[in-house]
Amino acid sequence: MTVEMEMTLSPIMFIPFMPEQASNFAQEIDLLYFFLLALTFFFTVAIGVAIFYFAIRYRRRREDDIPEPIEGALKLEIAWTVIPLLISMVIFAWGARLYFQMYTPPREALEIFITGKQWMWRAQHPDGQREINQLHLPLGRRIKLTMTSEDVIHSYYIPAFRTKADVIPGRYSMIWFEPTKVGTFRLFCAEYCGTNHSKMGGDVVVMEPADYQAWLGGGSREESPTAAGAKLFTTLACNTCHMEENRGRGPTLVGVFGKPVTLDNETTVTANEAYVRESILTPQAKVVKGYTPIMPSFQGQVSEEQILQLMAYIKSIGGKQEEASAGTQAAQPQQPSAQQPSQPKPAGEKQEQ
Ligand code: CUA
Repeated sequence: MTVEMEMTLSPIMFIPFMPEQASNFAQEIDLLYFFLLALTFFFTVAIGVAIFYFAIRYRRRREDDIPEPIEGALKLEIAWTVIPLLISMVIFAWGARLYFQMYTPPREALEIFITGKQWMWRAQHPDGQREINQLHLPLGRRIKLTMTSEDVIHSYYIPAFRTKADVIPGRYSMIWFEPTKVGTFRLFCAEYCGTNHSKMGGDVVVMEPADYQAWLGGGSREESPTAAGAKLFTTLACNTCHMEENRGRGPTLVGVFGKPVTLDNETTVTANEAYVRESILTPQAKVVKGYTPIMPSFQGQVSEEQILQLMAYIKSIGGKQEEASAGTQAAQPQQPSAQQPSQPKPAGEKQEQ
């Protein structure tokens, strides 16, 4: 552990058993953790000392020693109610703020797809570059990982980034972060997933943006997920029904992603990742208003990776949100606390149906 390299004033730096802090969230998570540790330590010591002190100070001195009964101590009771309340509210507010920050990916984040499979991690970058048990990232760029599993529950864990999320079959989980340090960091699976669980891991390699570009350019270059998705859209004949301007038997998918969709039972859902996935695998579950439920299920015909590719394509024709995630290496603003509304909630976009 090269903790001593980091010269920040965070108190956690003096604790030698913490991993490096290599993402925008690491320092604050450590501070919160340290705060909880310190608080726990303080009260453990205070209560322990008080027990001993009272046991000695108020010990029974004679056989017939019966203390005066005490009734009511309003000030004391208020104090022991209000002080813990304030402390727990600090923990709550601090934790909630951090939680919302971590679960609200910035819109311009570079989106990388991760698929877990017994027992490896596959990654695909927006430009099409693939890798297994490794993840190359550019320094100082906000990264969003959209993750799913092909078999059982795994968990994507990068200790140096202080980030971890379960990766669940049939669902998309998301984490985002901004790497703040060049280097190689360990990647683990943090959910017991079978025989080789302990070997399911690898390295996260954070590179200077120019080096990342060079890395993207080298090696076996493949189609971008968006291009592959566009191709699948034709080979699976999706395009014969989902035509432009609602000319087909299915609704058009142009300008749909991230927007609210009205269903045949008059409810409204947002066309997010989960909805698109469900509509591919179980099309009858949520039928768009005005259409007959004639779409066949693609269960078993498409892999999780192919669904992600279709998703990338549907996003790319979906609207304005995806402009920034096309993999361009634009300079990114550095303030990590800038809050963006979360992607699946189209605030103020209700006018487009
Ligand atoms: Cu995958 Cu443990």
